[in-house]
Amino acid sequence: MMPLPGLFLGAHGDQAGRLGIVSSSPPQCKTLTPAGQEQIIGNDCTFMPITIKDVARESGVNTSTVSRALNNGYGVNDETRKHVIAVAARLNYRPNRVARGLVTGRSHSLALLVSDIRNPFFAEVARGAEDAARSGNCDLVLCNSDLNADKQMQYVQSLLEKRIDGILMNSVSMLNEEQQAQLVASGVPIVLLNRSPSNHTFSTVCADNESGGALAAKYLLNLGHRKIAHLTGPRQHGNLTDRARGFVRALQTAVDPVQPTVLHGKFNFAGGAELTRKLLDEHQGITAVFAANDVMAFGVVRAALDRGLRIPEDLSLIGFDNIEFSGIVHPPLTTIHQPKYEMGYAAVEILLRLAREKAKQTPEHRLLGVELIERESCRSPLAKPRGSSKRSLV
Ligand code: RIB
Repeated sequence: MMPLPGLFLGAHGDQAGRLGIVSSSPPQCKTLTPAGQEQIIGNDCTFMPITIKDVARESGVNTSTVSRALNNGYGVNDETRKHVIAVAARLNYRPNRVARGLVTGRSHSLALLVSDIRNPFFAEVARGAEDAARSGNCDLVLCNSDLNADKQMQYVQSLLEKRIDGILMNSVSMLNEEQQAQLVASGVPIVLLNRSPSNHTFSTVCADNESGGALAAKYLLNLGHRKIAHLTGPRQHGNLTDRARGFVRALQTAVDPVQPTVLHGKFNFAGGAELTRKLLDEHQGITAVFAANDVMAFGVVRAALDRGLRIPEDLSLIGFDNIEFSGIVHPPLTTIHQPKYEMGYAAVEILLRLAREKAKQTPEHRLLGVELIERESCRSPLAKPRGSSKRSLV
């Protein structure tokens, strides 16, 4: 930024020691010491922040008029507004949102706290959340909790110190009662995304996981599968419990009921592969697997290939999420679609309302529909030809 000759700011500096320029040639930069004395600190003023006071002085109006002109506020005629905007642009003025937030009590920033953004599911959720935040004139800050309670609380603390307007979280279940109470007491609006409403005082946005599990079960039953496994994540994961409940119940209540094998493990690619090896070693004749999410399903494919098994010829496979890669991999994965972008978008819509309501904070719960996306990873166990692989499971 070029120094601004003729702009005299130093004498108007504040106790924070803000910098100023003395109108001399060459210009000199001044600051106020904490004791309130002016101090010349050199002539390189290129690092000087331009403040709203500078814009006001250059425009010949007061700071409140500048603020209203730049924020499309009331009581400023068109001519003044244009003049102030032009001066602000010429001075390269950037509003200090932190200072403004102290006055308005809003930072216009929201945070998205997810377990791990490397799961492509969250990338799509984040995209929806960001788009909604932008249309609400807010920025979105991303934090990964790794499902670690301490890390999550450290983030929350730091976000509160930054006067965040609201937080989207994908889980509070790993927090102890005291930590959950701290969250409520903080008064910051919170929306849980990807979490069902059960037992939550917070607002929630979630896909209908139980129906999704049931859809997967009915699809496999209709294809004629009877020896079915469900590979899933940790037991305490609420979403997965709902998925498993829908899946198992639909199998058990079928006209000709089926008792599936359910294995719990890590909720990622490695977990999917590890559980598949265990399944193949310990359970004979499985013809179909429902993986708790698509990333786990990719792990199933890996482990099955390593054992010389083909999908779907030797093993049918269905996932959950419908992340973008699922339509690209070979074979394209049949899966349960959850509206990820819409989930992030809806969660921010609620958050913005809560941020506006401040003290009122009426919780809201949105349950989003799911659908089965049929691709090429499942087939009937009776379909021919089978068995040209090294090992047949039936
Ligand atoms: O925790 C992340 C997982 O939960 C996603 O893969 C998706 O399945 C979500 O519901």
